[in-house]
Amino acid sequence: MYNSKITGLGYYVPENIVTNDDLSELMDTNDAWIQERTGIKERRWIDKNSDESSATMGAKASKIAIERAGLTKDDIDFIVFATLSPDYFFPGCGVQIQDMLDMPTIGAIDIRNQCSGFIYAISTADQFIKTGMYKNILVIGAEYHSNGLDKTTRGRGVSVIFGDGAGACVLSRTDDNSKGILSSHLHSEGKYADKLIVKSPSIKNWVPDIINTNGEDTSYYPYMDGTFVFKNAIVRFSEVIKEGLEKNNLNTEDIDMLIPHQANLRISQFVQKKFGLSNDQVFNNIMKFGNTTAASIIIALTDAWEQNKIKENDLVVLAAFGSGFTWGSVIIRW
Ligand code: ACO
Repeated sequence: MYNSKITGLGYYVPENIVTNDDLSELMDTNDAWIQERTGIKERRWIDKNSDESSATMGAKASKIAIERAGLTKDDIDFIVFATLSPDYFFPGCGVQIQDMLDMPTIGAIDIRNQCSGFIYAISTADQFIKTGMYKNILVIGAEYHSNGLDKTTRGRGVSVIFGDGAGACVLSRTDDNSKGILSSHLHSEGKYADKLIVKSPSIKNWVPDIINTNGEDTSYYPYMDGTFVFKNAIVRFSEVIKEGLEKNNLNTEDIDMLIPHQANLRISQFVQKKFGLSNDQVFNNIMKFGNTTAASIIIALTDAWEQNKIKENDLVVLAAFGSGFTWGSVIIRW
C-alpha cells in the first residue's frame, strides 16, 4: 500500500469584503452581536455582476495548488470537488474544473457533504492513492453561498455566518509510510437532516411550485436550528478528533495543529478548551472569511501553511461537523 501526502495548497476568495456593518444596512443586526456569537468580523461575497462561481473559484485555487506541488495540469490523475453550492444541479463542478484547467479527460467526482465535504473529499482521494490507482489527485472545496442567502432580518440567524471562497490541494503518492495521511474517520446521522437544510428547489418541490406560492414558500433559503447544531457539533467534533488520535496511538498533546471546520469561533474555542489545547495548537480564520463550509478547512489549512504555522513532521488534525448531520476527521503527519 502506498501513502498519500499533500504536496500543494492554494486558496482563492473573492475581492468583495462584506463587513458586519455592511450587513447591518441590509438587516437588523450589528457588529457586536455577530462577533460575540460567531467571531466573524467580515466575509467575502462574490460581486453578483461578476461571473465568479464555485467552479471558477475552485479553478483559481487549483492552479495555485498545482503550481506549488511543482506539477502541471497534465500530471493530475483525478479530481474530487466538494461543494453544497454547485454551479448546476448537474453536471457537477468537478467536470467543470477538468474543462476550465484544460486537463486531459481524467475522472472527476463531486462530493455533497456540506461542512464535512472537504474531509470526505480528501479521504476519498486518499483511498484512490493508497490502492495505487492514482498518483496525483486534485481535491477542491468551494462555496458560493451569498447568492442563496436570505439577506433580510428574517434570515439574519443564518446569513451573517456564511462566506464565499475556495481552497484546493494536490494529494500525491509517497512511499514514505511515516508521512502523509495516517487515517480518516467519517460519520453520518441522517435523522437530523432537517436541522440544517436547503429544502428547495428539489425534484419534490420544483421551481414552479415555489413560484406559485407568491413568496410564501421560502424553503430555498438555508434553514438552521442553530442551538441544536451547536450542541451536536461540540460533541461530534470532540468524539471524532479523539477517535482519530486513538487509532494512531496519539494523545491531544501530540497535536501540533488542529484545523477545525470554521463553523463558528465559539465551537472551535469549546473544542480547544475541552482538549486543553493552546492557541498555538489551533488555527482559526473565520474572523476574516466567515463560514465557507466545504472550503473552510482547506482555506484555513492553506492560510496556516502560508503563515509558516505548519512544519515538516507536525501532527496536523483536520475535523468537521455539519449538515447531514455528517462529521469526520483526518490525521496527517506533515
Ligand atoms: N443579529 C442580531 N440578532 C440576531 C441575529 C443577528 N444576526 N440572529 C439572531 N438574532 C437574535 C434572535 O432573533 C434572538 O432574538 P430573540 O431572543 O429576541 O428571539 C436572539 O438573537 C438569540 O438568537 P439565538 O438563535 O438563540 O442565538 P444564539 O446565541 O443561539 O446564536 C447562532 C445563534 C450563532 C447561530 C448559534 O446558535 C450557533 O452558534 N449555532 C451553531 C451553529 C453554527 O455555527 N452553524 C454554522 C453553520 S453549520 C456548520 O458549519 C456546522
